[in-house]
Amino acid sequence: LIVETPDEVARASAARIAQAIRRRREPGGSVTIGVATGSSPLGTYRELAALVRAGELDFGGIDAFALDEYVGLAADHPESYHEVIRRVVTEPLGLDPARVRIPDGLADDLDAGCAAYEAAIEAAGGIDIQLLGIGGNGHIGFNEPGSPLASRTRVTVLAPATRADNARFFGTVEQVPTRSVTQGVGTILDAEELLLVAQGASKARAVAQMIEGPVSSRCPASALQLHPRAVVVIDRAAAAEL
Ligand code: GLP
Repeated sequence: LIVETPDEVARASAARIAQAIRRRREPGGSVTIGVATGSSPLGTYRELAALVRAGELDFGGIDAFALDEYVGLAADHPESYHEVIRRVVTEPLGLDPARVRIPDGLADDLDAGCAAYEAAIEAAGGIDIQLLGIGGNGHIGFNEPGSPLASRTRVTVLAPATRADNARFFGTVEQVPTRSVTQGVGTILDAEELLLVAQGASKARAVAQMIEGPVSSRCPASALQLHPRAVVVIDRAAAAEL
């Protein structure tokens, strides 16, 4: 779906999430959403929060799973995804904090934490709709180029380009953690619906590789081509290389 502006990306993606939630809720069904960090989905959350304030949508009783977390950042570090999700998702949307799960980047045994995260998603009945952004290098979650398309939740090493991109949140690139815990590409593909949002010229190349390039671990987002219900919502600038 190509729209003109970032505001339209926000409105169209929020409308799709709202629709997915309403559809599954009736009658009395449970809903599990997958939420993403990064700047791309911020407009989507803003629009969803407006629907909540207007009384048109209610996140009560909804389970949520985040895609990823940095390894080694204290949970209350302002850029930890625990903190970011609380700030931009849980509080504005009125989700129950006890129902919002985020990978543990501080576990003594990170691998055991990854396995537990996979089990928690499964116990919730899987993710109904997963919101995604895309990295400039084609990453989804923190699945950097080279990530196997069948990968599961695991520890990954951040690409230098990703650390450079995210330095804007930390001050200097040295302060950006070097590793993450992320849902794998295979984990993401298990969601019933995928909704990827991207805006701006800096994403145009990655968007073109995702949609028109070969399905390849060199562009992890190209795995969306394998998914039967994947929707990509982008603005004109992000569509420039299609
Ligand atoms: C981040 C996140 C991804 C996100 C991507 C793009 O580091 N781990 O989930 O989609 O990089 O970020 P942004 O939306 O800020 O461009």
